[in-house]
Amino acid sequence: MKIEYNKSLKKHNTFGIDVTATEYIKITSESELKDALFKYANKELFILSGGSNMLLTKDINALVIHILIKGITVIEESENFVVLSANAGENWHDFVQYCITNDYGGLENLSLIPGYVGSAPIQNIGAYGVELKDTLLSCEAIAISTGKRHTFSNEDCKFEYRNSIFKNEAKGKFIITKVTFKLSKKNHQINIKYGAIESALADKDITSPTIKDISEAVIRIRKSKLPDPSEIGNSGSFFKNPVISKDLFSKLQNLYADIPFYKIDENNIKVPAGWLIEQTGLKGKRWGDAGVHKKQALVLVNHDNATGKEILDLSKKIQKKILEKFEIKLETEVNII
Ligand code: EPU
Repeated sequence: MKIEYNKSLKKHNTFGIDVTATEYIKITSESELKDALFKYANKELFILSGGSNMLLTKDINALVIHILIKGITVIEESENFVVLSANAGENWHDFVQYCITNDYGGLENLSLIPGYVGSAPIQNIGAYGVELKDTLLSCEAIAISTGKRHTFSNEDCKFEYRNSIFKNEAKGKFIITKVTFKLSKKNHQINIKYGAIESALADKDITSPTIKDISEAVIRIRKSKLPDPSEIGNSGSFFKNPVISKDLFSKLQNLYADIPFYKIDENNIKVPAGWLIEQTGLKGKRWGDAGVHKKQALVLVNHDNATGKEILDLSKKIQKKILEKFEIKLETEVNII
């Protein structure tokens, strides 16, 4: 556990923003984490995981604790189910592929999401009709102030769409070290109702898909519209899809007959932020190295050397346009630091 000084974080955030941390350490075990929390109790800390859901707009004047604890453990197995844990520093997609290889079902729709296992519960990652909360049994976290381990059940995590207790009352208080899942070993409950998956399977003439087929379909869809962070910096969807009132929605539908929507309940409708942004004409545009992705307007991109501030300014420009045109306030999904 060696402190590195004035460390560039460019390689440790998927936006590829070049900011510096005054101090930085790698943590590879829970005991190392407890030691560090005790030893550096008087320092300001900044917890870093895969860096896939953050926009760094300034240098970090703190000790960056990079959680790189690896390991996957099968805890319990029956004929139908497996309970297994992945430590926080496991790469999310590699973990999903481990599950597919072992024919453990439940995470296949979440293939190719960037980031590490430890940050997945924070925003309840989701894609193609599935969310983390559907298979998460519990997660373990170390309390920063005491160094003690806490276990959060699925219910304790208070999961919602791209939200959890870790973005609210537990924010900044815990470091997630391990996530435990309950996955199926047979009779997998496959979820292909999301249109793009059905057509991707139909393209390959697959009528009874395995979880591997679904994973491959999701990978193809994601690769076709989402930029690969190793090639072009980004943090996936920059904004949440807004939920609007039925009245506002009717007004918009009169103006834009083709507006896509998902009904949440009698009074609330979710509309895709990507579609809204596309209507403003900003899709594919760029200002210096900060841009809106050409295939998915919900994704902001760093073409090369954009600063976090430039991406943030672009996001504000988008929010302003959406408010003026649609009377909708877009909320960021990405954490702005
Ligand atoms: N759309 C447009 N123009 C665009 C982008 C989207 O018209 O530039 C339309 C699409 O045609 C479609 C609708 O908007 O009718 C929804 O688009 P898409 O299926 O691509 O999904 P999304 O709502 O934009 C959400 C998640 C993604 C997730 C996909 C698939 C959020 C904020 N984003 O995007 O998650 O992969 O659904 O399930 O909920 C992420 O969180 O980082 C992420 C990538």
